[in-house]
Order: sequence, then C-alpha cells, then structure tokens
Amino acid sequence: MHVLDAIKTRRSVRAFRPEPIPDDLLTKVLEAGTWAPSAGNLQPWEFIVVKSQEMKVKIARAALHQMWITEAPVVVVACANEKRSEMGYGERGRAFYCICDVSAAVQNMLLAIHALGLASCWIGAFDDYELSEVLKLPPGVRPIAILPIGYGREAPRSPPRRPLSSVIHLEHY
Ligand SMILES: Cc1cc2nc3c(=O)[nH]c(=O)nc-3n(C[C@H](O)[C@H](O)[C@H](O)COP(=O)(O)O)c2cc1C
Repeated sequence: MHVLDAIKTRRSVRAFRPEPIPDDLLTKVLEAGTWAPSAGNLQPWEFIVVKSQEMKVKIARAALHQMWITEAPVVVVACANEKRSEMGYGERGRAFYCICDVSAAVQNMLLAIHALGLASCWIGAFDDYELSEVLKLPPGVRPIAILPIGYGREAPRSPPRRPLSSVIHLEHY
C-alpha cells in the first residue's frame, strides 16, 4: 500500500473480530513504532503488550470504561520514558519531546496496522494514575496511547477534515 493511501484510508476502528493476530504481524507493528523520529534519537518509547482478558478489562476500565477495547485480541499501550528524554534535554525533553516522539511512534504503528490489514484506534481518554497502576509503570514512565489491535469488524466512513484552505496560514497566522 502506498504511504499516501495508507494515510488517507486509515480509520479508527472500535469493533474487532475475536481471532488472534499472528505474532509476526504484531512484531512488524511494534518495529514500525521504533522507526519513528525522536528528538536526539533518544527513542523514549516503551510498549506494553497485553493479551490477557483480565488485563484488558482493567485497561478498559482505566480508559473511562471504553469496554469495547476488550474485544481486541491484543492491546498495546505506548508509554513515554520521560527520564530518557530528560537526560538529554532537561525539562523540555521531559514535558514536550517525549510526548512528540511517542506520538510519532503511535502514528507509525497505526499506519503499519492498517497496511497489514489489521485495525486499531488511538485511545487517549484514560485516567493516567489508574492506568499506570494497572500496568505497574515505574515513576517517570507515562502512558500516552492505548492501541487495541485486531481484525476490524466495522469499516467506518471517513470523518470530515477541515479544508486545507482553513488550516494553511501563509507567511503568518
Ligand atoms: C490523542 C487522541 C486521543 C483519542 N482518544 C480516543 C478515545 O479515547 N476513544 C476513541 O474512541 N477514539 C479516540 N481517538 C480517535 C479519534 O476519535 C479519531 O482519530 C477521530 O475521530 C478521527 O477519525 P479517524 O481516526 O477515523 O480519522 C483519539 C485520537 C487521538 C489522536
């Protein structure tokens, strides 16, 4: 799939078929995450891979009870290792670069998921404290996105985009 087609046809999918996804596909998805750009190439991402139903239920509850998450055979939680970025860039690294870096990794994974015939949705609505507890995250590792991954059971229509003319500002805002 051409990268521009992948970008345009990727959709947030919130319903999944029950069959598992092959491990080699999951590895490709995670590897795509690691090829994202990162400030100073510090690569502050940590990926938690969850397959047990018990853990998926806890994650879904922490995600403000978005229980559809539990339908996915695999859930990946992308986290930012704030300390890695802080060591390189101080406060800007901790509070800004590491979130940019992990977000780039998440988008890479979403595009890889789509190109491999799988489906997912970026979930950012969750209780930081509860999710960190559930995942046993050490201090300085912050959850950024939950990605339920599986074979999609729906094909959502494209939500509209703001027209280019309204988002481009020439020379100044
Ligand atoms: C930072 C962020 C947080 C999001 N959080 C959620 C979420 O908690 N639950 C959900 O169902 N979708 C969530 N989404 C998905 C958006 O609703 C979706 O990307 C948007 O409606 C555009 O649809 P599309 O992804 O199909 O293009 C989130 C997306 C982003 C980028």
